[in-house]
Amino acid sequence: MAATQPPARTLLPGVKYVIAVASGKGGVGKSTTAVNLALALAARGAAVGILDADVYGPSLPRMLDIHYQPDAMEEAGNKRILPVEVLGVKAISMGFFMPEATPMVWRGPMVGMAVEQLLRDVEWGTLDYLVVDLPPGTGDAQLTLTQRVPLTGVVIVSTPQDVALADVRKGINMFRKVDVPVLGIIENMSYHLCPNCGHRSDIFSHGGARREAEAAGLHFLGEVPLDQSIREHADSGKPIVITDPQSPQAVQYLEIARLVAERVEAMAATESPFPSIVVE
Ligand SMILES: Nc1ncnc2c1ncn2[C@@H]1O[C@H](COP(=O)(O)OP(=O)(O)OP(=O)(O)O)[C@@H](O)[C@H]1O
Ligand SMILES: [Mg+2]
Repeated sequence: MAATQPPARTLLPGVKYVIAVASGKGGVGKSTTAVNLALALAARGAAVGILDADVYGPSLPRMLDIHYQPDAMEEAGNKRILPVEVLGVKAISMGFFMPEATPMVWRGPMVGMAVEQLLRDVEWGTLDYLVVDLPPGTGDAQLTLTQRVPLTGVVIVSTPQDVALADVRKGINMFRKVDVPVLGIIENMSYHLCPNCGHRSDIFSHGGARREAEAAGLHFLGEVPLDQSIREHADSGKPIVITDPQSPQAVQYLEIARLVAERVEAMAATESPFPSIVVE
């Protein structure tokens, strides 16, 4: 913890908790989860921002339906970027600054610098939570990001298949190595709900992520079904937590948000109330 705290204060002085959403494997629903989690935390009354740290394939323009550049302001001669305010949260993505079809070519170190700039130059104001949507995988790019982004903890998203779960193990090890607490695991596309009859089928033999969490001594934060309405809402810029908050799917995201908030508060409560003094 001590290693991750100082940059949090200097880079993001007004932000209480920075929560990353990560996955070992691509396409498991990390961005969908990050956006719905951010909106669910906001629905609980928290001030929330969301940072799309996936500079290769930013998702926020599509998931929040934002296709314009953020405003900027001048403060003591410094240009500050104002996050876009949408659906009750503040949002920033590299994708807001470039047309959707532009392919992004970044070399390793540039990725960390780009994300750091988004952290440093964006006027987040006072936030309870900044949710960071990380790029998929556990390679160098993620490692650099976890070191540059001052994380309170990380939530890992997985699908139930063995291949995804094997990558979760790699993810857990990576975050442990860099001293980022793993807040818990979410199983996405856990089971299928038929949109017509509501029949549930466990197409990927659900439950793997819960077992993986238990084996690693981590918290299991919940399962989200593979569901047509989650996809349609996410991909049309109107996440389900906002458009259909009473639906069982949205209620599930709200429950995940409650558990995440509980974990983070519990962690904060066990931390020393006094800042540690580091003599160098
Ligand atoms: N629970 C779900 N039910 C149905 N569709 C889902 C669900 N979660 C995500 N999806 C859909 O799956 C696709 C991939 O999701 P998403 O972009 O969130 O994944 P990702 O892990 O962020 O991908 P990447 O690794 O490329 O960043 C999207 O079209 C999204 O709408
Ligand atoms: Mg994504």
